[in-house]
Amino acid sequence: MPAPQSAPQPSSQPSSQPSSTTPGTTDPQDLAQDLGFDPEALRARYRAERDRRIRPDGNAQYRGEGGEFGYYADDPYADPEFTREPLHDRVEALVIGGGFGGLLAGARLRQAGVTSIRVIDKGADFGGTWYWNRYPGIHCDIESYIYMPLLEEVGYVPKWRYAPGEEIRQHARAIGRHFGLYDDACFQTAVTELRWDEDASEWIVSTDRGDRIRARYVVVSTGTLSQVKLPGIPGIETFKGHTFHTSRWDYAYTGGDADGGLTGLADKRVALVGTGATAIQVVPHLGRDAQHLYVFQRTPSTVDVRDNRPTDPEWAASLRPGWQRHRMENFLKVVTGVRTDEDLVNDGWTSSARLQEKMIPTNAYEHIPAEERERAYEIVDFQKMNEIRARVESVVEDPETAEKLKPWYRYMCKRPTFSDHYLQTFNRPNVTLVDTADTHGVERMTENGVVVGGTEYEVDCVIFATGFETGVSGVLSGGLPVYGRGGENLLGSWRYGPKTLHGFYSHGFPNLFLLGPLQNAASVNFVHVLDEQATHVAEVVAGAREHRARYVEPTPESQEDWVAALRENAPDLYAFHAECTPGYYNNEGKPRESNERYADGPVAFHELLRDWRANGGMNDVLVTAGTTSSAAAAVSEASGSSEAAGSSEAAGSSGTAGASGTAVAAKAKEGEDA
Ligand SMILES: Cc1cc2nc3c(=O)[nH]c(=O)nc-3n(C[C@H](O)[C@H](O)[C@H](O)COP(=O)(O)OP(=O)(O)OC[C@H]3O[C@@H](n4cnc5c(N)ncnc54)[C@H](O)[C@@H]3O)c2cc1C
Ligand SMILES: NC(=O)c1ccc[n+]([C@@H]2O[C@H](COP(=O)([O-])OP(=O)(O)OC[C@H]3O[C@@H](n4cnc5c(N)ncnc54)[C@H](OP(=O)(O)O)[C@@H]3O)[C@@H](O)[C@H]2O)c1
Repeated sequence: MPAPQSAPQPSSQPSSQPSSTTPGTTDPQDLAQDLGFDPEALRARYRAERDRRIRPDGNAQYRGEGGEFGYYADDPYADPEFTREPLHDRVEALVIGGGFGGLLAGARLRQAGVTSIRVIDKGADFGGTWYWNRYPGIHCDIESYIYMPLLEEVGYVPKWRYAPGEEIRQHARAIGRHFGLYDDACFQTAVTELRWDEDASEWIVSTDRGDRIRARYVVVSTGTLSQVKLPGIPGIETFKGHTFHTSRWDYAYTGGDADGGLTGLADKRVALVGTGATAIQVVPHLGRDAQHLYVFQRTPSTVDVRDNRPTDPEWAASLRPGWQRHRMENFLKVVTGVRTDEDLVNDGWTSSARLQEKMIPTNAYEHIPAEERERAYEIVDFQKMNEIRARVESVVEDPETAEKLKPWYRYMCKRPTFSDHYLQTFNRPNVTLVDTADTHGVERMTENGVVVGGTEYEVDCVIFATGFETGVSGVLSGGLPVYGRGGENLLGSWRYGPKTLHGFYSHGFPNLFLLGPLQNAASVNFVHVLDEQATHVAEVVAGAREHRARYVEPTPESQEDWVAALRENAPDLYAFHAECTPGYYNNEGKPRESNERYADGPVAFHELLRDWRANGGMNDVLVTAGTTSSAAAAVSEASGSSEAAGSSEAAGSSGTAGASGTAVAAKAKEGEDA
């Protein structure tokens, strides 16, 4: 594969040196007292910048991918003529979603001995995020050696420290081949309904291709960043030029590929709306290739050093079995403050670990009194953000443009970004930054272009880098209805909030597993979390097979205990998020008062799952011989009693099909972004 154009020159190989002077590893008490800046002035500036951007319409400012804007979500890579006969067959495990979550579920189930596995995806191939997002410059932002899963199993070492999207997509396909997941996969197929058949103890899975597939187990891994989001800009539909969303890049129009070379834009004036993690990667290519590029910014991202480099072959040759798990776990420990002697990855994430506590809770700093901890974190945060702002000033030549590119908020208010090319692009004469903070974003669109502050910018093409509806795909948005025992609707059953054990399964919905950051713990390396979840689910399924369980279903008591414990211990992140500029991390400036994140963090959560499996936890979920609520009856192969069957009926009779998913989606969003 050719080297990505955006990659800088090679330097040394991945370091394993601990960075003892970074905020990630310095105890807050040891922080320098002589600050050299005025914290109160910074606090005031942050508040002013937040207030400038707050919109009363919050999330309602956006439009989803449905209705008249449905074409924004069309698949540019699929064969539009594809047809096939509907399937009316049976598989043991059906996985919805062919991204890394679905692939990991398939792989781990295969390793657990399940032979009949079908993965279904709307896309025409595996990859999920990396299938849909192929925009120029796309790379992972977590080190590829720990982000790309199953490297040792597949026998691959990424070519770059931060791999380009196409390499990641090809790896997803390699996982599909390695674990035989292509054999039974259905692509270009959307699952439209799940319905439990109690008599047969299996799910009936309906799709938009007329399939009615029976499956004993269903794993849902439909992603948290998979539904296109457009800004509700007045007049958006009147624009006569070309438009598309970054997750459906139109290379037929721009020319080139994900490595750049967008020759089709040489005579085009291009508008890019949005300056989040996607835009940071796209802008250098658009700046290089468009006749003129206008970047419409509402809130600048933090842009730290990337330092991408090719993999050192000697380092790759030195890797010993188990290296990837060790490296993933080391990263997770470092970024969540769990004591460890070394920092193997040693990058922008590990050096800012202390600041991530506001997104990923941890119990690592409990020994420091809360008030002191807060004060110290804030100072580390100010220092980090001062560094980020100083970088803007040192790179961007025009002082006015540099001023607009400086972010004024705390580090974890938005997903941090890393680039050695983004800020530099604003030194090009053909690139203009248009600040839209005072108008709460792009004001309106006309036939000819984009209007901000009364000025119309005439362009040939508008590209929306405006992100995704978060945390609400599929089951949680109501887009994929689920009817469990007795026809009970899942969202109806969750009308006062999700009820799960460990976030994975729910009483009344046997043999159904949800992967994702719901009522459990997340991490900035989301794929690591997905792997732990997939491994857990596969082991539970293996336990069910071994014990010949009738189905897997948590007892009501076990899920009540889990949710109560989560709520009781949940960290209070409200104050932090309320001070942030609006964005999807804080529900567009309307943070929720409660959250359901696992307070002790992902390292402790993964340990909890391992302990649970090793010490009889399965008793809470394996149901044998017709019982649904008694843990004691599970696993023991006790005979089915009519009382137990009665309770099963009762559980099913409280159906409230059609209840709104909004409250559930809101709860689900709390844990979404890692
Ligand atoms: C551009 C981009 C870059 C990212 N980079 C990073 C990174 O560097 N590091 C990191 O940790 N995270 C990153 N993320 C987050 C990324 O989404 C996760 O890391 C991970 O890939 C998610 O995997 P998933 O399987 O959960 O979801 P996805 O990859 O989103 O896969 C879900 C799949 O489900 C399918 N689907 C949904 N509904 C249905 C249905 N009803 N029927 C059939 N199929 C359905 C979708 O088509 C999709 O293919 C990035 C996200 C984006 C958008
Ligand atoms: N590997 C990677 O590095 C990578 C790359 C891409 C994406 N991702 C993941 O995907 C997530 C989504 O990233 P994303 O960049 O696609 O989306 P995003 O972070 O949600 O960014 C959307 C951008 O659009 C802007 N915007 C929205 N409405 C607007 C309007 N009306 N006018 C002007 N600007 C408007 C937003 O401004 P405001 O900030 O003011 O709302 C924001 O800058 C990331 O957070 C990350 O988790 C990772």
